[in-house]
Amino acid sequence: MERIVIFSGAGMSAESGISTFRDSGGLWEQYDIYEVATPEAWRRNQKLVQDFYNQRRKQIMNVEPNEAHRFIAELGKRADVQVITQNIDDLHERAGSQKVLHLHGNIRYARSSGANKEKLYPVQGWELNETHLCDDGYQLRPHVVWFGEEVPELAHAAELIAGADTLIVIGTSLNVYPAAGLIYSLPENGKIFLIDPNADEITAQRKITRIPMKAGEGLRFWAENFR
Ligand code: APR
Repeated sequence: MERIVIFSGAGMSAESGISTFRDSGGLWEQYDIYEVATPEAWRRNQKLVQDFYNQRRKQIMNVEPNEAHRFIAELGKRADVQVITQNIDDLHERAGSQKVLHLHGNIRYARSSGANKEKLYPVQGWELNETHLCDDGYQLRPHVVWFGEEVPELAHAAELIAGADTLIVIGTSLNVYPAAGLIYSLPENGKIFLIDPNADEITAQRKITRIPMKAGEGLRFWAENFR
């Protein structure tokens, strides 16, 4: 069975109504990364960081998977499909994908701000605040990877891509490392597709078939022309 890895970024969820980070009007135009998405920000102002992620969680809980999430879940019934997502939303899972690795965490979960990084706590509702503590008494923080933190699932993701025949990259500007470097883990004879309205502008030092379309229509185009 063909082994396909889907590597998704914020553009994957754009058609569900979640804004991307670096497009015009994107989240990083509205917020300063260093104020809300770094360990320093957490040390400086926990409330601001919690509020930022509470808003993200609330929004995510109020939107639905889109055509592209559903397409990938369907594809998973006919091929061996592994999703690796940079997204902290759970829309791939809600669409029915069975194998989803979250490289940058999953907002529906929290973890300790103390030493135990492994144990995950499902967040009840959308709000995480100073009353939510882990079993050891530390404050619970969003289960997301901040800028400046290590990416614990990186080696696992690289291994999954190294074992794939086809890699379909969808809706990521490939700006953020180490995640962006993962495409180079695909074996030389593997095929890479890049589905993104901005596909022609994205740089990569590898032969890539570019499909400059939105996620949903790009996946349909891929299925019609390359399957
Ligand atoms: N379909 C597909 N792609 C789209 C769509 C769409 N409907 N709309 C926009 N895009 C594309 C944009 O052209 C852009 O290339 O999605 C990409 C989004 O890029 P970024 O905003 O940089 O998001 P991403 O690459 O996922 O960011 C990586 O950065 O801030 C961090 O941790 C955060 O995981 C995130 C990481």
